Amino acid sequence: MGRSIVRALVDRGMHVHFIGTNAERGTTQAADLNASGPGSSTFIPCDLSDLPAVRTFARQFRDDVPALSLLLNVAGVVLPKRQVTPEGIEKTFAVGYLSAMILISELSPALAQATTPRILNVSGSPGIVLSPDRLNFEDLMAQTNYNAVRAAMNTVHAKTVATEIWADKLKDQGIDVNAFHPGAVKGQLGRSMPWPLRTLFSVGNLFLSPETISGIHVSTAPELQGITGHYFIGKTSRALSFDPAYKKALWTETERLLAAN
Ligand SMILES: NC(=O)c1ccc[n+]([C@@H]2O[C@H](COP(=O)([O-])OP(=O)(O)OC[C@H]3O[C@@H](n4cnc5c(N)ncnc54)[C@H](OP(=O)(O)O)[C@@H]3O)[C@@H](O)[C@H]2O)c1
Repeated sequence: MGRSIVRALVDRGMHVHFIGTNAERGTTQAADLNASGPGSSTFIPCDLSDLPAVRTFARQFRDDVPALSLLLNVAGVVLPKRQVTPEGIEKTFAVGYLSAMILISELSPALAQATTPRILNVSGSPGIVLSPDRLNFEDLMAQTNYNAVRAAMNTVHAKTVATEIWADKLKDQGIDVNAFHPGAVKGQLGRSMPWPLRTLFSVGNLFLSPETISGIHVSTAPELQGITGHYFIGKTSRALSFDPAYKKALWTETERLLAAN
């Protein structure tokens, strides 16, 4: 899904830096994009589950790229068995949520230097991501009853709640922060699953769109400038309005986890 947005941005003449762990695939994709232009791209190898490395990368990037017009947080994983980082963070949450919080926090100074800066967080279907009280703050690390799909859904939900929090924080700096439902898009989310589920994901892929039309729209449409704190589904959007106490509980936990990592 991320690749389809990168393609659309390069097609519009932008320079895109994109992150992944698969260096061979990433450099090949960047070379393909650069061969066809008109924009260009650079692949950056970085493991988003390694939170100290994400912070180091972001600080270096901010020094190298002083003005950033768009930050897209679209990485995510579905892990059949619970895995934790060396610091004890559940990996689905680290890749899909906490790394995005670090990137937003560290790169907002570079975004503030751009003319029409935008942050976009991948979300999911409304029934999951807009539910008012999905997260169990006593067990954000999924230590009890781990379930791969639930862990993945919790990360997109948390990222959607944090979208509203960041939209408020960054409003004065003119940085728009929105979440978007990508639609049902061909991808590799099933790659770590046991073979019956992997097969199911592969068969499902045959029927899915190769690109996220809504993701491309929210990344490129100039008329969306000034809309912030919204959840986009297709080309329509609604303002996010989570309960203040729920947002506060998520933010307290987020700050606690980031301070320790
Ligand atoms: N596809 C859909 O229909 C859909 C619908 C709703 C929501 N979503 C959400 O969108 C997100 C992405 O879905 P997708 O379909 O694009 O998944 P995907 O095809 O599996 O792609 C995941 C991307 O994340 C990168 N990634 C994974 N782990 C990483 C890590 N540790 N460090 C750095 N990059 C990492 C992968 O790059 P490397 O392989 O190079 O690491 C890849 O580019 C997920 O959170 C999913 O829940 C997807």
